[in-house]
Amino acid sequence: MDTPGSAPLRIVVLIASDFALAPEREARWLRDLPAVRQADIARWPDGAARHRSLLGTRLLREGLRRFGFHDASLSSLRHAPTGRPTLDLPLDFSLSHCEGRVLCALSCSGPIGVDVEPIGSLVAADFPNYLSAAERAWAGGDPRRFYSIWTRKEAVVKAAGQRGLAELRHVDTQGADGGATFAGVAWQTASIPMGIAHVAHLACGPGRQSLACVTVEHLSREQVECN
Ligand SMILES: CC(C)(COP(=O)(O)OP(=O)(O)OC[C@H]1O[C@@H](n2cnc3c(N)ncnc32)[C@H](O)[C@@H]1OP(=O)(O)O)[C@@H](O)C(=O)NCCC(=O)NCCS
Repeated sequence: MDTPGSAPLRIVVLIASDFALAPEREARWLRDLPAVRQADIARWPDGAARHRSLLGTRLLREGLRRFGFHDASLSSLRHAPTGRPTLDLPLDFSLSHCEGRVLCALSCSGPIGVDVEPIGSLVAADFPNYLSAAERAWAGGDPRRFYSIWTRKEAVVKAAGQRGLAELRHVDTQGADGGATFAGVAWQTASIPMGIAHVAHLACGPGRQSLACVTVEHLSREQVECN
């Protein structure tokens, strides 16, 4: 994967650590969203979930700038009935957040999906209905391998605009790190380096784009706050 700078941007992944928002900042960032979305988020009782979702929107704004949409507003942000967010702009994006990390992936050349999870204690044997025999054999009792398969599956489902646990069983990763098939389509997947405590994957559709030229950037809290 590339560092920022050289080749024309095709896929950008922005990563930040999560942090608690002061009430004034939360209110200000909420106001940048469409009224419907403001009302949705304001109803969430879990403050950390609200903050992570809002942090995702700031990464999205910053990512749009990387593609030249300097004045892009989030006012056209919509959520399809499946939950998939869209903007009235000619690019695709995907958001994922968990305790500790927030990610936004953007692509100007086709569907993109991203998923991050903290590495916990779950193993493949805990999910016989969602992982194939080949996937369970590859993951064995290793939690990192389980979360690797899981995030690959989630990233593919999100790139495809589907949702929910039921779809995950239909994503076939064959276990080994590489691509995945879902709904008769071969999806490219790539792991995003996240350190020892998290696992993340990116997925994109077949054809025009390549996961060989992904720009990954870690943003500091200061960079996120001044966005
Ligand atoms: C909702 C779902 C898309 C992902 O959920 P998740 O992994 O819990 O959450 P993530 O943080 O990775 O992703 C949430 C983001 O995905 C996006 N999203 C939601 N639905 C989406 C869809 N159908 N397609 C693409 N993106 C979607 C949204 O941007 C959302 O963030 P926001 O509401 O702050 O804007 C769905 O696949 C799901 O329900 N998965 C099951 C999750 C689960 O049980 N995990 C257990 C892990 S061991």
